[in-house]
Amino acid sequence: MAAAESRAFRASLLHFRDDPGSVRADRAFEHFEDGLLVVENGRVARVGPAKDLLATLPPGFEVVDRRGSLILPGFIDTHIHYSQTDIIASPGHNVLHWLENYTFPEEARFAEASHAAEVAEFFLDELARNGTTTALVFGTVHRASADAFFTAAARRNLRMAAGQVMMDRGCPEHLRDTPEGARRDVRELAERWDGNGRLHYAITPRFALTSSEAQLRVAGELARAHPNAFIQSHAAEHLEEVASACALFPECRSYLDVYDRFGLLRERAIYAHCLHFDAEDRKRMADSGAAAAFCPTSNLFLGSGLFDVAAADAAGMLYSLATDVGGGTSFSMLRTMSEAYKVAQLQDQRLTALRCFYLATLGGARALRLDDRIGSFEAGCEADFIVLDPAATPLLERRMRAAKTLEERLFAWMILGDERAVKETYVLGENRGLTPN
Ligand code: GUN
Ligand code: ZN
Repeated sequence: MAAAESRAFRASLLHFRDDPGSVRADRAFEHFEDGLLVVENGRVARVGPAKDLLATLPPGFEVVDRRGSLILPGFIDTHIHYSQTDIIASPGHNVLHWLENYTFPEEARFAEASHAAEVAEFFLDELARNGTTTALVFGTVHRASADAFFTAAARRNLRMAAGQVMMDRGCPEHLRDTPEGARRDVRELAERWDGNGRLHYAITPRFALTSSEAQLRVAGELARAHPNAFIQSHAAEHLEEVASACALFPECRSYLDVYDRFGLLRERAIYAHCLHFDAEDRKRMADSGAAAAFCPTSNLFLGSGLFDVAAADAAGMLYSLATDVGGGTSFSMLRTMSEAYKVAQLQDQRLTALRCFYLATLGGARALRLDDRIGSFEAGCEADFIVLDPAATPLLERRMRAAKTLEERLFAWMILGDERAVKETYVLGENRGLTPN
């Protein structure tokens, strides 16, 4: 891991140590109103009150003054399609129509390596603008899509996971692979990219409707052959899709059971949506260690349904937050938190601001099983972090003046904030080119 700067950052500091939904707040997070984050060689050396830590720094150690702003770990987006960047904000009356009318035609363009490379660069710039430092990313069925993404992410030294989509039916002919072709591509891509610097490979069967039994069997074999790789797919997003999955796999108890039968439920398996689940599905998710990616802007935009936060919590199911761009309508994890809050409200459930910020940082790292490296400021973690501006807009500044507690301030950021509030994004202690206002 090529590394970076050694210096300290003085600001209000926040990071999570546990889920505020399951432990007392004083054990869930650390907040230093006037704090110091000390970064050495791209990693967190220590955090604490500035008044204590400043005196411990060697003479001449650079201190970057960001007092007035909040520094927290970079956001983690656990489900996003880089190949759908150009079709964000395209209408569709449900996900299946949207796939047919916008997604598949757009994804065909990624056969061209130069197109894939150009979109990957824009996409990674956009993630940085939004303060997202790690994501679990879908490519397309084309080998070029995965290579272009990994190449761009490697150049920026990002911790990213991605995969080439596997789909051999239920989509236009020219977008289909074969089980054997997918096996070869995944083996070669995983060999080249998994564990290369900060990158991870994700085995990526698109969803049950676009993979034959033979292909899901190959996905299961690949998952066994690469126990540390991610698995990513979609599950139970829309009722029409659930009915089709059950018709294609009549021997399966439920949609989720399709993935289970092929050995695709385990730790580091992330399923987007998980809306139309029953109690047994949720228990199976919890027991297997797989995680759901809750994608509120996508679920509302495509009219898919409401993620049941209370039922997921009651089942002990792991979940995190995700944008699902381009079904999702924003790259911003702040906007995503805001919509997650409203999805809970619609079901008379509560998601606090602390919980939302947890889900977008340490919660995402836990879902990805990367919490020993990212998602918090524990000593030794990689120094990927962001600087949030309380005065990003006149309205935010005005609202912040009236906010008395940390929780009130976080709430204002998540309801009123977006990429304008992300003043700087640091990767391994280095600024990603966004300058302070
Ligand atoms: N289900 C299968 N593919 C997709 C996709 O690209 N986006 C969403 N939201 N759902 C899917
Ligand atoms: Zn998706």
